[in-house]
This record gives sequence, structure tokens and C-alpha cells, in this order.
Amino acid sequence: MSAVYEKLQSCAKSVREKTDFKPEVALVLGSGLGDFADTDVKVEQRIEYSDIEGFPTSTVVGHKGQFVFGYVGDVPVVVMQGRVHYYEGYPVTDVVLPTRVMGMLGAKKLILTNAAGGVNFGYRPGDLMVISDHLIHGVPNPLIGENIEELGVRFPDMSEIYSVRTRDCIKKTAMEMGIYVREGVYVQMSGPSYETPAEIRMVRGWGADAVGMSTAVEAIAARHMGIEVCGISCISNMAAGMTKEQLSHKDVQEVADRVSAQFKQLVAGVIGAI
Ligand code: HPA
Repeated sequence: MSAVYEKLQSCAKSVREKTDFKPEVALVLGSGLGDFADTDVKVEQRIEYSDIEGFPTSTVVGHKGQFVFGYVGDVPVVVMQGRVHYYEGYPVTDVVLPTRVMGMLGAKKLILTNAAGGVNFGYRPGDLMVISDHLIHGVPNPLIGENIEELGVRFPDMSEIYSVRTRDCIKKTAMEMGIYVREGVYVQMSGPSYETPAEIRMVRGWGADAVGMSTAVEAIAARHMGIEVCGISCISNMAAGMTKEQLSHKDVQEVADRVSAQFKQLVAGVIGAI
């Protein structure tokens, strides 16, 4: 058995020893959505990452690190309040470990959320974007290494990584709520420095609409396991070089916090409809 799978199994077992909760939907909370688990989930149980042996713990200020188990409406969910980023120095297999654990606990659907910079000139800070597809630059594919046959095949198809069904579901839910959403391509860059203006021009040429430092590798790992994936980005700023302003984590968080009520409303609705 590969070392990656051994670690995964031991983490999943450690969580299973603490709860027998069976989630249907898994949710990863990005910046600005962090308190969704406190406000919109009828909480049954919380498990801190630091209480799971071998589990990577987030080092980013403002990111909590725990699984929250509970119900949104009558849907059983597991929520990742705080994710692990590649720029924190973890190997990419550790970055996707929490996502894989949620799959091993039984989650069949995954909703990924993040804050992202707008690359598309038509976007504005505060916009919400349904992720239609992704690009990755500077982060290795999380499936590199011995394939974990128990999870999925060596060469998994990624031609509909963010399922059309769930994307339609998000757009329909948003429309019913009167929330305007865009749909576009997300590019995951390594970070932690924000991109240079030249990098932003490059990824725009590649077809990216929004840029961030997470999400795509988690989507790949989940899709490999046969989980149905969707993602929503909160456009927290225009990407580097697009305005005269410099980028700061504080500004990114402020915009994400400003639209968090609408973002949370949409995510809660999507969980019910998905
Ligand atoms: N670049 C990368 N990641 C981000 C950005 C950005 O402009 N905004 C929020 N996360």
C-alpha cells in the first residue's frame, strides 16, 4: 500500500473513531465564508484537525482548522472550516488529504468555495462566479505518485470536472434568489505572493477568468474518487495590474466579508437543491 493511502486511511479511521456521522455533501469554505459553519449549519459535531493524528493543519491567519458535521436543512453535510494550501509548504498529497477523507466518510458531492482575483475585465469585486473549468500553474497534480487503485483509476477523465448538472443547479438556485452569478474558468497558482501583472496577462491569454491559490487540486482529487464536484468563487479583487491599486490580504478579506451574506445564502440554497 502507498504511504499516501496509508496516511489517508489512518486519518479517516481517526475521524471515524470520533463520529459515525454520514455526510452526503462535503463543503470547503474559502475566505469570507468561514463562519457559514457557525451560522447556517445545525452542528452535530466538530473535530479539530489538530486532534486527527498526521492531519495537516492550516497556518493562515483567519483560517480555522476543523471539520464540522451537521445539517443544512435536512441534508447531512461535512464542512471544512479552513483548508490547507500548497504555499504553506505541505506536499500536494497533504493538501488534498482532507478532501479525500470527506469522500471516504461517504460524501458523494463536493462544493468548493474560494476568494479569487478577477482576471476577466468584465468582472467586478463582489461578483460570484460558478467555476466551469480550471487551469493549474505552478502546483503539481495531486495524483502524481503511485496510483491509489482503491480511490480511482490511473488516468481519470477530467473533461467535466465541475459537473454540468451541479453548475446548472447553482445558476438556477442563484436566479431564484435574485443573485447574479457569472460562470468562468479558475486558475490555481501556487502563491503565496500574488501574481505579477505579466502572469495575469499570461493566464488571461490561456482562458482564465479568475485566479486563486486553492481549489483545482482538491477538485482533481475528488473527481478521481468519483465525487461530483462544483465550485463557486467570490471575486474579492481585480487581479494584479488591472487597477492602480496594490493587492493586500486585508482588502481581499474585506470584500469577501462584505458579500458573505449573499454567498452564504447561495451556498445554503445549493446544498438543498443539489
Ligand atoms: N490572486 C491569487 N489569489 C487570490 C487573489 C488574487 O488576486 N484574490 C484572492 N485570492
